[in-house]
Amino acid sequence: MQSMQTRRSFLGSASALSAALAFAAWQRTAHAGASSTTEGALAMRAIPSTGEKIPVIGMGTSGSFEVAVGSEEYTALKEVLKIFFAGGGTVIDTAPTYSNAEDVLGALIAEQSLRPKAWIATKLSGVSGREAGRAQFKSTLQRLKTDKVELLQVHNLGDLKTQLALARELKSEGRTRYVGVTHYLEYAHDELADIVAAEKPDFLQINYSVVTRGAEKRIFPLAKDLGIAIMINRAFEDGKLFARVKDKPLPNWTAAAGITSWAQAFLKFALSNPAVTVVIPATGKPHRQADNLKAGLGPDLTEDQRASLVAALA
Ligand SMILES: NC(=O)c1ccc[n+]([C@@H]2O[C@H](COP(=O)([O-])OP(=O)(O)OC[C@H]3O[C@@H](n4cnc5c(N)ncnc54)[C@H](OP(=O)(O)O)[C@@H]3O)[C@@H](O)[C@H]2O)c1
Repeated sequence: MQSMQTRRSFLGSASALSAALAFAAWQRTAHAGASSTTEGALAMRAIPSTGEKIPVIGMGTSGSFEVAVGSEEYTALKEVLKIFFAGGGTVIDTAPTYSNAEDVLGALIAEQSLRPKAWIATKLSGVSGREAGRAQFKSTLQRLKTDKVELLQVHNLGDLKTQLALARELKSEGRTRYVGVTHYLEYAHDELADIVAAEKPDFLQINYSVVTRGAEKRIFPLAKDLGIAIMINRAFEDGKLFARVKDKPLPNWTAAAGITSWAQAFLKFALSNPAVTVVIPATGKPHRQADNLKAGLGPDLTEDQRASLVAALA
């Protein structure tokens, strides 16, 4: 027991140290790269329905926040959140059906008194019927230790009509500022586009990456036309993109563009589409959070740079 505690506390301080070093490195890079447009600050984009600006790099919680409270992973998540907020991040996406992710997020945010800074997106998920949706949302607020969220989304089009009406009801009651719909697979894009055109939610959350570009066809132009914010999930294809570039060097132009990792290149790719408002990569590792935040600095990619990344992954 003693040795386990000692190991835990060692890992805790090692994690804190690595987080501090990672953040210091992030700051150095941010300021060294503070050229034309950013002055070292995370870029912000406006939500079309209100004009409110949010940082372009957010974070997801699927998998990464599904950990035991008090575990080594939980300790690492404290640093992940510290780095995220210190780097200017605010937007965090979760769901009541990501096992205990809402509980973990709620606990970590409360511990660090981060609620005033956090912009929380969650979902009505896997429920059917208005009363079940209301009960789930009530529980979500308890789990997140808050009385309202910033964005409430209907997950994967489940029970869409009823749950979207409920999300709007909750918006009128002041329990959410925005409503949205989400999906994560391309087969749903056509149906999503029809729904978005008919319902005009504030947000649409969908998958988009350098190898999965279906959203460019209908979804992005439609969202631009109708003034709907786009939140991107799976910009790393749930991490699978990293195996595909394992032995590949970054393209030559990336250094001059201030890009120092494939993660930054993948996130910049998603952000370089003008319809995109925010991207929400998920990680449980402090140094990767610092890495991901760097993608929110500096200018967007040019068409040639985007094409070069597509070719590198082809
Ligand atoms: N239907 C929906 O609404 C829906 C569906 C899917 C996802 N989402 C949301 O979108 C978020 C993101 O999607 P996702 O979690 O599926 O996948 P993702 O962000 O594409 O990839 C996450 C994976 O990438 C790894 N990773 C993160 N940063 C990295 C870096 N800098 N370098 C190397 N590896 C890195 C993570 O591993 P480590 O943790 O080990 O770093 C994790 O395995 C979710 O968490 C969730 O909030 C929503």
